[in-house]
Amino acid sequence: MESRELGRTKERVPVIGMGTWAMGSGSAEKNKEELMALEKGIELGMDFIDTAESYGAGRSETLVGRAIRDVRDKVFLATKVSPEHFGYENIMKSCQASLERLDVKYIDLYQLHWPNPRINIRETMKAMDDLVAQGKVRYIGVSNFSAEQTAEAQESLPRSELVSNQVRYSPNSREIESELIPFCQKEKVSIIAYSPLDTGDFRIDQIPEGLLRKYDLTPVQMILNWVVYKDGIVTIPKAGAVTHVEENSKSVDVKLSETDYQSLSKAFH
Ligand SMILES: NC(=O)c1ccc[n+]([C@@H]2O[C@H](COP(=O)([O-])OP(=O)(O)OC[C@H]3O[C@@H](n4cnc5c(N)ncnc54)[C@H](OP(=O)(O)O)[C@@H]3O)[C@@H](O)[C@H]2O)c1
Repeated sequence: MESRELGRTKERVPVIGMGTWAMGSGSAEKNKEELMALEKGIELGMDFIDTAESYGAGRSETLVGRAIRDVRDKVFLATKVSPEHFGYENIMKSCQASLERLDVKYIDLYQLHWPNPRINIRETMKAMDDLVAQGKVRYIGVSNFSAEQTAEAQESLPRSELVSNQVRYSPNSREIESELIPFCQKEKVSIIAYSPLDTGDFRIDQIPEGLLRKYDLTPVQMILNWVVYKDGIVTIPKAGAVTHVEENSKSVDVKLSETDYQSLSKAFH
């Protein structure tokens, strides 16, 4: 699996990781399938897992904790704190609760889930920075932040660097192309693209058959390949089925030519 540097760090993460929204909240049978899907993904090199304290009120984190129990050090583990917990003491409590649900000693990437203009970003970032100093968190990221908010978050960090911004990006959700992607590329803040498959509502009719044949990719693989074409972008499709994980893991075995990438970008419009 191809990997990219996270922010300005020397840490590398796979370009295709795994999202876990809504995991752990279904039937016991469904949870078992999701667990198998996560384990298979780790085995296939998609060993970057994203979750959040808000997903299923903590149930996603608990499931992820089970999936990584025997392979903790092999996995790059990302979770998020919710905006209502951005006060100093609340961040500390949220982080501790996530560590316990995940059953780990540290979180690799701790992200602010959405901006919260009601709490001073300096207070929030002081807490995040202290978590790094305490060894509970390795890297700090944000999510759903505009270019301006990302710059402000970066400037508010006393000691650490901001490494990533997790935002929606897919062939049908391209708002970040005009401002945020160029800003993050310039500042070396990684973009973690969420909902790359439009939460399952992806369209395949726009993809030219000839391109699928040329690269021997399925439509889903072509979409994921397109999402991570540009430097500085990685993605975290969510797949609760083992067959989907297997398909997704082979998405970047080939690289599109610049000409084919451009024609695909036009076809998606
Ligand atoms: N930061 C934020 O605010 C935010 C917001 C939304 C999402 N996220 C993160 O991003 C992750 C991904 O986004 P998402 O869950 O919204 O949606 P997504 O990854 O765009 O789509 C997930 C859907 O695609 C299906 N799928 C996956 N692989 C497939 C394949 N090879 N063939 C056919 N269908 C396939 C899944 O089905 P199965 O489950 O049946 O395999 C599921 O229904 C989330 O899980 C979460 O971690 C973050």
